[in-house]
Amino acid sequence: MDASTVTPPLSDAARAFLDAPERQRLLIGEERREAADGRTFDSLDPATGQPIARVPQAGAADVDAAVRAARAAFESGPWATLPAADRGRLLTRLAGLVADHAEELAELESLDNGKPVKLARVVDVAQTVAHFEYFAGWPTKIEGDVVPVRVPDTLCYTLREPVGVCGQIIPWNFPLLMAAWKVAPALAAGCTVVLKPAEQTPLTALRLGELALEAGIPPGVVNVVTGDGETGAALVDHPGVDKIAFTGSTVVGREIGAKAGRALKRVTLELGGKSPSIILPDADLDAAVKGSFQAIYFNTGQACNAGSRLFVPRESFDQVVGALADRARAARLGPGLAPDTQLGPLVSEDQLRRVTGYIEAGREEGAELVVGGGVPDGANGGYFVEPTLFAATSDDLRIAREEIFGPVLVALPYESVEEVAERANDSEYGLAAGVWTRSLASAHRLASLLRAGSIYINQWGMSDPAAPFGGYKASGIGREHGHAGLDAYLETKTVWATLR
Ligand code: NAI
Ligand code: MG
Repeated sequence: MDASTVTPPLSDAARAFLDAPERQRLLIGEERREAADGRTFDSLDPATGQPIARVPQAGAADVDAAVRAARAAFESGPWATLPAADRGRLLTRLAGLVADHAEELAELESLDNGKPVKLARVVDVAQTVAHFEYFAGWPTKIEGDVVPVRVPDTLCYTLREPVGVCGQIIPWNFPLLMAAWKVAPALAAGCTVVLKPAEQTPLTALRLGELALEAGIPPGVVNVVTGDGETGAALVDHPGVDKIAFTGSTVVGREIGAKAGRALKRVTLELGGKSPSIILPDADLDAAVKGSFQAIYFNTGQACNAGSRLFVPRESFDQVVGALADRARAARLGPGLAPDTQLGPLVSEDQLRRVTGYIEAGREEGAELVVGGGVPDGANGGYFVEPTLFAATSDDLRIAREEIFGPVLVALPYESVEEVAERANDSEYGLAAGVWTRSLASAHRLASLLRAGSIYINQWGMSDPAAPFGGYKASGIGREHGHAGLDAYLETKTVWATLR
């Protein structure tokens, strides 16, 4: 371990939240409840493996209560009749409250997920504010059309109406931000939600639920149920849920998609990736190395759009791999709350096992382990793994095909641009892809050839609430952010009126 393992004390606000078990209960309407059957589970600090909070494990009865609260708020509560401008104003107020509590939220996120607190501040919390601000502008711009139909003496127009009650199931890698990606467009559209945070990181979603009430968003509009996959499945299966929004593993995404298909529920899925980053021979190599390093090791590799396959021209392969290895050796691992930490631990013991299992598989399959691969000294019960770089020549290795979701990069040499585009696309996934080049023509040619929902040119991982995000192929269905993200929470109603 390179960063100091001594962490400064938490702020009073974060401490107060952790010390108040009654604030960590289910949020149903405006009530804070234990699970009906009394079950609980612990959320752990990934830097130590020690429990930091004990929260309810919601069962089917609790999910039912939350869905009923959301239904009541959707159909008969003040939300149902609130003018669009007021919905916008409440979302603006929530954005402001998140900003006011930025430090507290960043600390809670860092403690619960393990990520560097600085990253939690500048990415998770800042982007959460941005999402609520952006979607706060939408309610007053949701418009239907007057349709010029061919029937005489007829008025035909469309209304855009909220889909209804939304079950929103989110992962642990950006807990608060994933909640914002789901809750902000849903509320802008006029929907109500039951939010289920991941079992590894329930805290900031519970805090967001409190802030939503404090902002004046009516009770029942945002309900929060904590629990594991069983809770998520109960939400997906509930007949009172009109739409499911899910971010997480492809395996669970397929199952949710199949269930939603059978029940004909609306569904959006944001799933895994094995995103290729391509360095072209004319690239600024320093920028490409720096960017490719961030692309994979950011958030300890726990990002759906991580650049996990790096294609390098054969002639610069050794230079690029050497420069990446130097950076990996210099990276400071430590607890998220230690101020000099660059890479925090993985989120859980499961995730540590999964990632070290892939590292083992890479070795067994004959890839060259250039740097990392181990658990650092002084991990002290935390789920740390070293930033790891493999060099390989075959695209068929498991480490080159499967999503690892950890700080493990596979560098692969190539000979020609035609070859590399084909190899980059040879994946079941299509979430993101990137290209490093000084040539405008090559950049846009590859942007057109690569089959992925986001293409990064001379950068990696940029995100904005206005810019659509989502996957081709097995990386998902639908888009989040922007118009498209809002549309996923709206139905279109066509109204026909005879004027004679
Ligand atoms: P997961 O897909 O099991 O968990 C994500 C969310 O789904 C959590 O809230 C979980 O409680 C819920 N869930 C689990 N099973 C469910 C079910 N049957 N029905 C409804 N909800 C369910 O992912 P997990 O196990 O935490 O991570 C496994 C792998 O998934 C990771 O190694 C990574 O490859 C991938 N993953 C991808 C993410 C992304 O951003 N695309 C985020 C998290 C994980
Ligand atoms: Mg935790």
